[in-house]
Amino acid sequence: MAAATFTSTGRPNRSNRATNNPEDATNENSCATMGGFSEAGVPMEHFSLVYALSKAALSGDVKDGKHQVARLKAALEKRGSLDNAEMLERLVSAVNAPVSNKSASFLQSEARPGFDFSGETLTSSKHVPVDRETSAPMAQVLSIEDLPRQMPALPSSLTGAAEAMIREWVHAKSLQRLGLEPAKTCLIYGPPGTGKTQLALWLAGQLGLPVILAKLDGLMSSYLGTTSRNIGSLFAFANKHRALLLLDEFDSIAKLRDDPNEVGEIKRVVNTLLQELDRRREHGLTIAITNHPGLLDPAVWRRFEAQLEMPMPDVAGRVRILEQYLPPMQLDAGQMQLLSWVVEDCSGSEIEDVVKALKKSVALEPGLTFVDRLQRVAAGHGDRLSEPVRALLAGEREELAVQLMTTLNLSQARVAEALGVNRSTINRWQNEKQTTRGALDGDKTASSVRGKSHSAKEATSR
Ligand SMILES: Nc1ncnc2c1ncn2[C@@H]1O[C@H](COP(=O)(O)OP(=O)(O)OP(=O)(O)O)[C@@H](O)[C@H]1O
Ligand SMILES: [Mg+2]
Repeated sequence: MAAATFTSTGRPNRSNRATNNPEDATNENSCATMGGFSEAGVPMEHFSLVYALSKAALSGDVKDGKHQVARLKAALEKRGSLDNAEMLERLVSAVNAPVSNKSASFLQSEARPGFDFSGETLTSSKHVPVDRETSAPMAQVLSIEDLPRQMPALPSSLTGAAEAMIREWVHAKSLQRLGLEPAKTCLIYGPPGTGKTQLALWLAGQLGLPVILAKLDGLMSSYLGTTSRNIGSLFAFANKHRALLLLDEFDSIAKLRDDPNEVGEIKRVVNTLLQELDRRREHGLTIAITNHPGLLDPAVWRRFEAQLEMPMPDVAGRVRILEQYLPPMQLDAGQMQLLSWVVEDCSGSEIEDVVKALKKSVALEPGLTFVDRLQRVAAGHGDRLSEPVRALLAGEREELAVQLMTTLNLSQARVAEALGVNRSTINRWQNEKQTTRGALDGDKTASSVRGKSHSAKEATSR
């Protein structure tokens, strides 16, 4: 145990200790700090503030927490730690931002769903139904603790739509008074790696529901009779429990329809699935996911009240995703612009992979410049990054600098930040490139003139 004890007010009781109270301005230099902790092991400066902050956090008192953060910020400013004070300022602004900008838990401050989801409690130890032919389990149970607490970084319109779905369930009773029901079916569709599964699982977590996750093609047996039976037992299991049913690879249903054999029987299987979906509305929420929305016919689309399209991220989306994964790594504005250009063709999942690789590189090769690090990461992620991006990163820095200014419209200052050189170097590179291009253009004009005169000469000589 540390020698310092604490009074009920949260102040260190220093009767047997050298003074270390941050509110004691005279104490600032009294202990040599090492990464925030004194060598003697006494608590760091500002400890009473950190203690009060920890107390607020652990007791869930957000108001007091904000008050303590403001005190800590003021103390840091007084001490001249302006960078750290600014970091706190940014943290407070992010927390105070409107809900649509928040990726963390949405429902935490709201009531739990007002709708009574019926059924037995589902735990991961429950036996899920198995395929009769192969004995393989047809689904996986994810308990609430396994669900992501973070929403994928999405455009605000989509975040709003997802939050609206939750709101429908939270305020289900008000809807029911008006003769309305919350949406019981939702289709999430879009390209691979755009966060469809994460969004569905996050929604379940927000509603406090465990998930029964089934890949639809896992239910398909070469025996159509078995397929129908599998669908029946999966839905029976789901309807018996208080859970969200998540049907991944939902387009497998369409593949079945394309099968030229046993047309009548296949129709029966598809209809079984659609009927089960309809019947399940009495019991709970179903989310289906597909990467191939074009394969679903109108009868299937009609089943889904909510339809969420997950896009490949645009430039703002890439920045949002980067901001989610980069911390604690910090980039300046130029580096951020460079990185968001590097991942221009990437899905959210690929961006996450690239950021992980960057972080590993920081840990393992701390001496590299940012752009050298990027170059190494790019070389190891051939399929994730576009060919022109990889070529530019592998080429000479001068060319990269000029491209960033011309193609991306970055200012000299940003390019200097991104490449870790000063502005005068960028200026020099730009002038050199312009001179070289000018000379090349001059050569081209001269040679084309020479070419023309040559052919003119040839023409006259002919
Ligand atoms: N928009 C995003 N914001 C933040 N992280 C994302 C985003 N999209 C994907 N990811 C990351 O990639 C991981 C994989 O995404 P997820 O499995 O949800 O994609 P998917 O659309 O279901 O892909 P697939 O179609 O291949 O199943 C997520 O768990 C998350 O870590
Ligand atoms: Mg998925």
